[in-house]
Amino acid sequence: MIVPIEQRYSKTTASMRHSFIREILKVTKDVPGMISFAGGLPSPESFPKELLGGLFSQVIREEGDEVLQYGNSDGDKVFKETIKKFEEVPYLSDEEIMITVGSTNGIYYFTRTLIDPGDIIVCEAPGFPGSLAAMEACGARMIGVEMDEYGMIPDLLHKILGRLSQKNEPVKFLYLIPEFQNPSGRTMNLARRRAIIQVAKEFDLPILEDQPYRELRYDGKRIITLWELARTEFNDPKLVTIAKSFSKILGPGLRLGFASGPPEMLGPMVKWAQKSTVSPDCATQRVTARFIEKGYMRDHISKIIDLYRPRRDAMLKALESYMPDGAQWTVPEGGMFIWVTFDKDIDTDRLFDLAIENKVAFIPGSKFYPEGTIKTNEIRLNFSYATEELIDEGVQRLAQLL
Ligand SMILES: Cc1ncc(COP(=O)(O)O)c(C=O)c1O
Repeated sequence: MIVPIEQRYSKTTASMRHSFIREILKVTKDVPGMISFAGGLPSPESFPKELLGGLFSQVIREEGDEVLQYGNSDGDKVFKETIKKFEEVPYLSDEEIMITVGSTNGIYYFTRTLIDPGDIIVCEAPGFPGSLAAMEACGARMIGVEMDEYGMIPDLLHKILGRLSQKNEPVKFLYLIPEFQNPSGRTMNLARRRAIIQVAKEFDLPILEDQPYRELRYDGKRIITLWELARTEFNDPKLVTIAKSFSKILGPGLRLGFASGPPEMLGPMVKWAQKSTVSPDCATQRVTARFIEKGYMRDHISKIIDLYRPRRDAMLKALESYMPDGAQWTVPEGGMFIWVTFDKDIDTDRLFDLAIENKVAFIPGSKFYPEGTIKTNEIRLNFSYATEELIDEGVQRLAQLL
């Protein structure tokens, strides 16, 4: 008898969940009249098509022998040097930086390096489902810690880590998105960053800092990363590994990011890369290096900020104008998301079905929680994709349903 392929799946494959967000994107894409606040998509208006087109053609012609060849698993040396300059970290050794295929890839290798099935990762609740799914696929158990307006609450983190340590449950690392968090839009202030690092050090817990939105700040001052804070104030360069991405500032289709951390972490991560992607795309690395070297990046980021800031403001204004009493929302200083909390009796999973019928899409809050912490009266709204007019119309539609 022939065994169906589905029955041959490994236990991990069989238990892997479909991404709800990807499913929604399929449902909402190309539906005439649909206003979508669901995805985390950059606006295609922000893609520097002309500049990249020119650079791709130049790089293939001028450096084709090199970039069409297999590349280094840890990334291209030229690109690494460019990143070090751009990020103002010239002192980093090549062993402390690794180029990845988008930041998801770096997050996956980091997890692969530390997690055995059943190990625990502590993260924010709500958190980013893309990473949570990648971590769960490695066999990790995710434990969420509640947030307030400044991010993960250190006292709660302390309590949870204390409890787990008493039960002898192995927590392997702490996963944090300190800036313009996906999904909540919240940013950890400096005091909170220090407090979280202190707790992590007390429990001897490495941190994975996910920073894909850092460049997209619309107001307020830049705050030092956990990565830099650990290296400088805490004199602990091994505590934090940071994952960054070019997805939100150049285009997610390029699949380019990088990770920086101690060689003891990056070494095995590169070994994972050798066994899966072999190397990141060589031409894309050199093109992005040229884009930065020619000075295009800063101007380009300013343009994206000028495009997204009015969209964020339009969404905040529309929420103020149309939302019923009792609704509250975050005011993000950057990034792409606003998090709305309703009265407890509003079930946003049900609201979602109604909203789709009425051609407006969002992601229900329940999709962002690790197991056991789920709340159902919240939603995530993306403001980077729709125009200001559509944002106003979409929020109005949503408010009418409420
Ligand atoms: C918090 C967070 N981390 C990681 C990613 C993945 O980015 P990349 O396209 O670089 O894999 C995203 C993308 O939306 C994100 O929001």
